[in-house]
Amino acid sequence: MQELLGKIKTQALAEIEKAASAEALYQVQVKYLGRKGELTLLMQGIADLPKEEKPAMGRMCNEIKQALEEAFARQQEQIDSADIQKKLSDAWVDVTAPGAKYNIGHIHPLSQVQYEVEQIFSDMGFAIMDGPEAESEYYNFEGLNIPSWHPARDMQDTFFLKQTPDKKHGRLVLRTQTSPVQVRTMEKYGAPLRIIVPGRVFRNEATDASHEHTFSQVEGLLVDRDISLAHLKGVMREFLTRLFGRAHGASAMAERTSGSASASEAEPINKGIRVRFRPGYFPFVEPGVELDMSCLLCNETGCRVCKHTGWLEFMGAGMVHPNVLKAGGIDSKKYQGWAFGFGLTRLVMMRYGIDDIRLLSSGDLRFLEQF
Ligand code: PHE
Repeated sequence: MQELLGKIKTQALAEIEKAASAEALYQVQVKYLGRKGELTLLMQGIADLPKEEKPAMGRMCNEIKQALEEAFARQQEQIDSADIQKKLSDAWVDVTAPGAKYNIGHIHPLSQVQYEVEQIFSDMGFAIMDGPEAESEYYNFEGLNIPSWHPARDMQDTFFLKQTPDKKHGRLVLRTQTSPVQVRTMEKYGAPLRIIVPGRVFRNEATDASHEHTFSQVEGLLVDRDISLAHLKGVMREFLTRLFGRAHGASAMAERTSGSASASEAEPINKGIRVRFRPGYFPFVEPGVELDMSCLLCNETGCRVCKHTGWLEFMGAGMVHPNVLKAGGIDSKKYQGWAFGFGLTRLVMMRYGIDDIRLLSSGDLRFLEQF
């Protein structure tokens, strides 16, 4: 029996050591120490031994049992730690490796300038409005004193949408200007009003370096009592001075627009920008004007950018036509106001010296990353 016990011990220890998984180890445990395990059965046999052999055999069995249990525990521990090792190495991360570089985008130059424009006008008490890009013929034209027969319709080549005409508002068009938001806002809020409307507009034109079918404008509308063009002049002078007086204003524009040669000559604006009116025609204003701003690059002495006039054309404007006030439900006997519209896209191009409008919507990162 002693011999048999010795054999069982060696055999069991070898099998324990070979067991590579918790499951295999459990099988070995059952085989030797289970209820019908080999060692268990032998231990039960002790009872049948002659009296004098019992104590020695009993002790030996217990020693073997203990040795096996210890071996099981050790092996179990090894299996567990191997499992952990495997899990760890599967999830291994080289914390010293250089990180993967993610390209973080930034605000498009057009939006950057739009936010600045909004900030300056809201500081002056203007609300910022929005309107639909797919607009009715009514708001885009009729409501603005441009009936269907009016030759001024030819000033803006229009995209018409395939939409069943609506009796009151007519067909749908892609708005050719932000001006339709004038009547929409008057209808909704009445007078007095102070708003700007930045937004995209669309014209059915051939594309080249200075023309795009889609570009951005900023509309302005102020309606109140005793309003004159003098107020417009003051507001625009203030607006342009604040805009170009900023860190990235005039000097950035000078550098980019005229290259290194005259960049050093351009002085930052500190005396303020001047504005002037010239007569201009738009059916929805009377009188209508064009507003020019003094050229920042040459301080009105004349340069390539201002075509040696000292002035840059900036926007169309005028006193809101009584028919437009009427369309907006405002009594033109009590209230008057002015409206303006300038090209935000053009302002961005002027400011950064961009000479091809198509770059702005090209999605070309070599271009966009400069701003
Ligand atoms: N909507 C005009 C345009 O797109 C600009 C404008 C706006 C002129 C408001 C006068 C008053 O050309």
